[in-house]
Amino acid sequence: MTKSALQIARAAYQPKLPKALKGAVKVSEGAATQSVADQEAIKELFPNTYGMPLIQFVEVGETISFPATNVGVILSGGQAPGGHNVISGLFDGIKKLNKDSKLYGFILGPGGLVDHNYMELTSDIIDEYRNTGGFDIIGSGRTKLETAEQFDKGYEILKKLSIKALVIIGGDDSNTNACVLAEYYAAKKYGVQVIGCPKTIDGDLKNEMIETSFGFDTACKVYSEVIGNIQRDCNSARKYWHFIKLMGRSASHIALECALQTQPNVCIVSEEVEAKDMSLNDVVASIAQAVANRAAKRNNFGTVLIPEGLVEFIPAVKRLIAELNDFLAANANEFAGIDRANQREYIISKLSKENADIYASLPEGVARQLTLDRDPHGNVQVSLIETEKLLSEMVAGKLAQWKKEGKYNGKFSAQHHFFGYEGRCAAPSNYDADYCYSLGYTASLLIANGKTGYMSSVRNTTAPAEKWIAGGVPITMMMNMERRHGEMKSVIQKALVKLNGAPFKAFAAKREAWAVNTEYIYPGPIQYFGPSEVCDQPTKTLQLEQNK
Ligand code: FBP
Repeated sequence: MTKSALQIARAAYQPKLPKALKGAVKVSEGAATQSVADQEAIKELFPNTYGMPLIQFVEVGETISFPATNVGVILSGGQAPGGHNVISGLFDGIKKLNKDSKLYGFILGPGGLVDHNYMELTSDIIDEYRNTGGFDIIGSGRTKLETAEQFDKGYEILKKLSIKALVIIGGDDSNTNACVLAEYYAAKKYGVQVIGCPKTIDGDLKNEMIETSFGFDTACKVYSEVIGNIQRDCNSARKYWHFIKLMGRSASHIALECALQTQPNVCIVSEEVEAKDMSLNDVVASIAQAVANRAAKRNNFGTVLIPEGLVEFIPAVKRLIAELNDFLAANANEFAGIDRANQREYIISKLSKENADIYASLPEGVARQLTLDRDPHGNVQVSLIETEKLLSEMVAGKLAQWKKEGKYNGKFSAQHHFFGYEGRCAAPSNYDADYCYSLGYTASLLIANGKTGYMSSVRNTTAPAEKWIAGGVPITMMMNMERRHGEMKSVIQKALVKLNGAPFKAFAAKREAWAVNTEYIYPGPIQYFGPSEVCDQPTKTLQLEQNK
């Protein structure tokens, strides 16, 4: 592989570790835990892994010797910057505990475990990938591990390779599966531990003990760089409104963080749309009003940030999607047999009156996008829905109507963007490089200490890395019961944007001024070398959440 100058320089970067992890450690156990909701139901489903204590690693003087251990690792779901560093931290951790330990990577996600598709990750391979973006070291995939047959198929290869522990690096759905697998292997007494690591650029796998999911920091910085560049272009040409959709399947953390970094004219926060029971028309009117207000000052340009998951948060559309999910789950074969030209009418004829009316009112393209295949976890593939175009077309319509009524006098010309894949494999920021390495290293210590059903946790990350706190959180602690594919399932609770949280409040306090004035910030590209205030800043979300 021909390497860029930056790749070569970054290869030499030594990620920082918490002080407590630099020498030998011992486990300090906290109190027993409970799931965030539905305690009785979760306890019954996870009799072997429910209620375990929180764990923190503390430094001890003497070196402890550990037997050589073979470990497997899986990258699951969407790519996120820093995955390679989780694997490097895990590799260095198990080798430090015993140089004869081995690391195996399962290829292309959880499917690699079931299909026995794997490779040994040696130091030569690991060294090629340190501090790089992407998941290409072993690839990723979205196969859902959920059946006993898959678990047993996986166990066959784990047994053959003498693998005693499996690390699953994934988002909320993948870590839910990690927990189910941990419980299954514990119940069967297979002697295989399962540890999770919190990954997703979406930033929605977080709670009291997991401050952030890795990749959120880098992805938001990449998107903020390009939003800033667009804002500068926009403020130079002064002729376009840019509608920018940002990834984040469900929660609006990415859009909100980018708004805090760049100060756009408008940023829609899906959670607020839901809380205020706004209709699609209300959202359109709010954007059109911002356009009209700026036009009154002769500013016929601006930026609008739109979270990818918006349509699912508009209550009426959400109800429609829920009915569609249940209907399509139960009638997949029949639907597949309907020809494309008749699908819209077919769906309309099957839905309840309220939902059929909403479905019929949607533009053809968006209606079709709502019936496309769900991902293996039952989610609508929101990245395929062109919300940025839907909104700008509807805003143009509203402005035309206002013009006729004499309420608006300006020019409206839109550009559309979708930023998602541009950031998912970026070279990890220093924050993600350090955080991920520590998560992987911590996973090795959870394994060495015989833990299963835990997620690796590194906290206090707005402080210098020396002071970070490393440990483990029982995954059952994060669970609740939710409806999926028409059935109630135990899943990790998604962390949505809190409207009473500090990041949203900081945004809400400023947005009126940003809407009418031009107060753009141009963050520029991620810096890897240079002054700490330029290179090592965590996200605004994390700083505000931690009151920094
Ligand atoms: P994960 O939750 O698996 O980390 O994936 C996040 C994400 O990047 C979402 O923001 C996006 O909706 C989705 O993946 C797109 O996935 P894919 O590229 O597989 O369609």
